[in-house]
Amino acid sequence: MTGTRTEDTTRVVDGVLRARRSLRAFRPDPVPRALLEDILDVASSAPSNSNTQPWRVHVLAGAAKDAIGDALVAAFRDNSLPPSPHFPEPLPEEHAQRQRDFGATYYRTLGIDIADMASRMRQTEKNFHFFGAPVGLIFTIDRRLAPHSWLDLGLLVQNVMIAATARGLGTCPQVSFARFHPVLAQHLAMTEHEVTVCGMSLGYPEAEAAVNRMAMPRRAPRDFANFEGFMAP
Ligand SMILES: Cc1cc2nc3c(=O)[nH]c(=O)nc-3n(C[C@H](O)[C@H](O)[C@H](O)COP(=O)(O)O)c2cc1C
Repeated sequence: MTGTRTEDTTRVVDGVLRARRSLRAFRPDPVPRALLEDILDVASSAPSNSNTQPWRVHVLAGAAKDAIGDALVAAFRDNSLPPSPHFPEPLPEEHAQRQRDFGATYYRTLGIDIADMASRMRQTEKNFHFFGAPVGLIFTIDRRLAPHSWLDLGLLVQNVMIAATARGLGTCPQVSFARFHPVLAQHLAMTEHEVTVCGMSLGYPEAEAAVNRMAMPRRAPRDFANFEGFMAP
């Protein structure tokens, strides 16, 4: 495969990349363990700095997933854990604007008034039961590593989503779990060095659900890429 490029390969790979989107409504059909192992196996082809492969994945289903979901919802309602600093406060305006645009689209699609905080909280809570997906994944990394190793984990996470999409499955990456690392660490008997980076819902998509039909816009390459040394187009 290395060094070859056929139109078919391009079409298939581009098609899967563009087909992936964050899905938040799932059918209850179980996902076999062998299929999950297959997805993780191909996803582990992700590159990593000096091939350190610094990822660890907890794969949850059935009663284990439900028990963790209940514990996370309880912790979310209890609100005693400090907020997770996954965005700076304040978020620089350029990024904040896109965050607001996402929120507006998300809550409009769900029929939730953006000012209705109680309904928004109920929707946020759905993260912790993996939006009803039959499988939940929790991605952790060794906290002694530096930020660049989190990039390695991100590449694995994207590979998992792409491999799942290619098999007719849907996913939603979720940073919401990070705040609840202490709860997850206890339930999953994590080592003292592990820290939760994100979670992921995974299952067969509920194709008709409006929330699964959102197509979030992207910036064009001319808006985020800087080309130097090319002839004028
Ligand atoms: C690192 C990361 C964390 C995210 N966390 C959440 C989350 O906690 N809950 C959620 O519903 N979506 C979450 N998302 C999904 C984003 O909202 C989504 O990727 C973005 O709006 C673009 O939409 P798309 O994935 O459908 O293309 C997350 C995505 C990423 C990459």
